[in-house]
Amino acid sequence: MDPKRIQVGNRSINVFDHGSGEVLLLVHGFPLDHRMWRNQFQLSKHFRVIAPDLPGFGESESDATEMSMAGMADDLASILEALQITEPVTYCGLSMGGYIGWEFWNRHRHRISRFVACDTRAGNDTEQVARARKIAAQSVGKTGSQTVADAMIDKLFHQSTHPTQSQSAQEVHRVISGTEPRSIAAGQLAMSVRADATPMLQDFNIPTLLVVGEFDSITTPQEMREMATTIPGATFVEIKQAGHMPPLENAAEFNSQLMSFMTRQAIGS
Ligand code: MLT
Repeated sequence: MDPKRIQVGNRSINVFDHGSGEVLLLVHGFPLDHRMWRNQFQLSKHFRVIAPDLPGFGESESDATEMSMAGMADDLASILEALQITEPVTYCGLSMGGYIGWEFWNRHRHRISRFVACDTRAGNDTEQVARARKIAAQSVGKTGSQTVADAMIDKLFHQSTHPTQSQSAQEVHRVISGTEPRSIAAGQLAMSVRADATPMLQDFNIPTLLVVGEFDSITTPQEMREMATTIPGATFVEIKQAGHMPPLENAAEFNSQLMSFMTRQAIGS
């Protein structure tokens, strides 16, 4: 099942688009692309699964020198429009895909029917984290993307089940190494100034699922459990044997939780 290319404004965008019926929009983390969802593509037996490469990542072109969470949320709305999708979708974003999701809710609320936040947070960066991102953004042009991949890989995966040499970890390492340094820099700068989405959580009035790997050290189960208590009616699920990348590390449990949420929270029921 290959992705296809669509034209969005003056950019050529790479997007996985298979299946029919209700739309499940999968939004990747940083600095990854649609391939992090490869174990979810089989859900296209039940839904229309859309997984784009965000502009500047994977094989998608970008015409912007700067990125922002709001800009990427608008890009997603434009991608849905280009695919002639007008009905509300289930938005499922991991980590940076979650940060973009808060802005998507803020700016394109009528386009979402359900929300799935994976291994992410609503709060913005502490000063220390924001400073570290700015330093990382300045250095990636010199050190290259592979250095970023080397530094990130063992934080993304739970090392006892997916050590650095495992196939999934190696694939993700290749994706990060292949990402343009200027996109890595722009993504870091965009995340460093993102807004605090915490105040809007209490207004979430759509079915919401929060998912986190039990060993995630980037966005911890404790943090996500607390976030779940502030979203009315949210379901919180911890995925066993997974770190920051449950869709790849424990796809069977991740898919079963996602399916059960979408079935339980049938739209129109
Ligand atoms: C991600 O997986 O998207 C990143 O860990 C997000 C971040 O750097 O905050």
